[in-house]
Amino acid sequence: MSQNESVQMIQPPAEFVRKATISGMAAYQALCDEAASDYTGYWARLAREHVNWKQPFTQILDESKAPFFKWFADGKLNVSYNCLDRNIEAGLGDKVAIISETDDGQVRRVTYRELLAKVNQLANGMRARGIKKGDRVIIYMAMGIEGVVAMQACARIGAIHSVVFGGFSAQSVRDRINDAGAVAVITTDEQCRGGKKLPLKPAVDDGIALGGCESIKTVIVNKRTGGHCPMLAGRDLWWDDVIAGQSDVCEPEWVDAEHPLFLLYTSGSTGKPKGVQHSTGGYLLHAVLTMKWTFDLKPDDIFWCTADIGWVTGHTYVTYGPLACGGTQMVFEGVPVYPDAGRFWKMIQDHKITIFYTAPTAIRSLIKASDTNPATAPSNYDLSSLRLLGTVGEPINPAAWMWYYESVGGSRCPIVDTFWQTETGGHMITPLPGVTPMVPGSCTLPFPGIQATVVDETGTELDWGKGGLLVVTKPWPSMIRNIWNDADRFKRSYYPDDFNGKYYLAGDGSVRDVHSGYFTITGRIDDVLNVSGHRMGTMEIESALVSHPMVAEAAVVGRPDDLTGEAICAFVVLKGARPVGEAAKKMIKELQDHVAKEIGPIAKPKDIRFGENLPKTRSGKIMRRLLRSLAKGDTVAQDVSTLENPAILEQLRGN
Ligand code: WTA
Repeated sequence: MSQNESVQMIQPPAEFVRKATISGMAAYQALCDEAASDYTGYWARLAREHVNWKQPFTQILDESKAPFFKWFADGKLNVSYNCLDRNIEAGLGDKVAIISETDDGQVRRVTYRELLAKVNQLANGMRARGIKKGDRVIIYMAMGIEGVVAMQACARIGAIHSVVFGGFSAQSVRDRINDAGAVAVITTDEQCRGGKKLPLKPAVDDGIALGGCESIKTVIVNKRTGGHCPMLAGRDLWWDDVIAGQSDVCEPEWVDAEHPLFLLYTSGSTGKPKGVQHSTGGYLLHAVLTMKWTFDLKPDDIFWCTADIGWVTGHTYVTYGPLACGGTQMVFEGVPVYPDAGRFWKMIQDHKITIFYTAPTAIRSLIKASDTNPATAPSNYDLSSLRLLGTVGEPINPAAWMWYYESVGGSRCPIVDTFWQTETGGHMITPLPGVTPMVPGSCTLPFPGIQATVVDETGTELDWGKGGLLVVTKPWPSMIRNIWNDADRFKRSYYPDDFNGKYYLAGDGSVRDVHSGYFTITGRIDDVLNVSGHRMGTMEIESALVSHPMVAEAAVVGRPDDLTGEAICAFVVLKGARPVGEAAKKMIKELQDHVAKEIGPIAKPKDIRFGENLPKTRSGKIMRRLLRSLAKGDTVAQDVSTLENPAILEQLRGN
């Protein structure tokens, strides 16, 4: 790699490099070389060094049923043991594991010993209700210590959790219960965000009432606010009653490395969200490695990943990674702009956060807020505890990167722009902070051992400088194992026949810099939108829209948005006349509310435009590329000769 030609490279600070766990390019290269010369030996060495096994593995990678790969298959372990007991055995029992801060600023701390007791009591309580290894458990909770406890308790007894983000609707909860065949739900009465109380348990009731949830036998409710919360006798139990009288000792369920640790539903380009299934051993290994290498986690760090446990980032970098490394972390219930947009900075100052990991959307909204109200700018706070910053979830624009680097990190903290996905379990392409010269907007180079490249539609590797499809050429330990209930969809989505099933297809476009080989992610190549770092399928939103009785047809596309990265734009044909003026405004609101009810507020289209029809080819296909141009506000200069009904474009131009 030649780095000298790229003028915009920012070198990692010497002070950081000196102390870093992986320090300098030679160390990085040595790991990459080790992986290149003995791929499975490399991962096996790391799995032995970084994970505690009840029964050591003798098999490393099993490719006999590719693309259903297995890693460390004959090894046995327990994730909660690795996150809790092993730290206590290593003398960290009194170390603070979690500092939690609620929306209204209440702070609680739990040590590793206290956390283990909480996990064990809940795990015993769950066992007493008959919940056992392999059962699926839906978790629909506020961000806080109990959310982490619920996930860890599932891991302790080998139950497979599936966390549903608290911003998803009753219908979404129902769909996930139904697809997973869950036996239990663990929820909160109400969550608090931005000064508002948002009911969660009532949404579980509404979801179950929609039908198809007969598998649910138990609903455990953690009391957060004490607000209105009807309980169904026999099915619903208060958390405190579940743990009452339970021992704080609980023998872990030792499971095979391939035992599913969790399902996490995420959007794809077609159909309903898919249940991404992760393993126990390989997943845990990558969570640990990325904490140590990407985040350079050290014993005295105070780590803060702002992601909700409803997303994969909150799984790997809240519930599992930091604890598996014996770290101290912050868990925050609220939102970055409450009570004002200085909240993150104040919390960094108050808790002396050293490593801070958030999403570009949050950064962009805080830039805007500090421009309009300088009192909320980072410069008003003492952020000198910070030593490393990270971003995830969507491409970060260079201007936001520079602001983050200078105004938050004081030009002394490296930024790790981590590219990964729900399916990959952990970081895939990312700078290592003591190694990689940074380029704003580029996720730089693969994590040591990850084999990523860019190919064209035929699977041919492209030269640097040419844009194409991002693929991973070798299976890796923390990769998705399957889609729950849909092995065909797993194959089609990630190991399509187009590449002879050889490559994992990420679903993102990418280009490598001609000089450095650095990767830049150019966005999704499928019909998945990324709105504020949240993955949304256009088809899901279209289905939600057409389920409204007035809607005849709908097409959803994304358009660039300064704040949210992408914004959802819907083109709708109603069954009656095309509404205009006030009637149109009323209908837009009604449809937005309808989508919020069907999927969740995060899926609300920002723009809705009505037409008497949609632009279609003569064979009846909706011309999405035209809709994308219209959504962006481009004058449509594209070839419209194949369009059946060109007059429709005027109508849909909107305004
Ligand atoms: C996008 C989130 C650019 C990408 C961990 C990916 C990114 C999708 C980055 C996965 C990044 C994530 N730079 N794009 N650093 N990180 N993405 O499953 O399109 O919610 O495919 O996982 O987010 O989103 P998911």
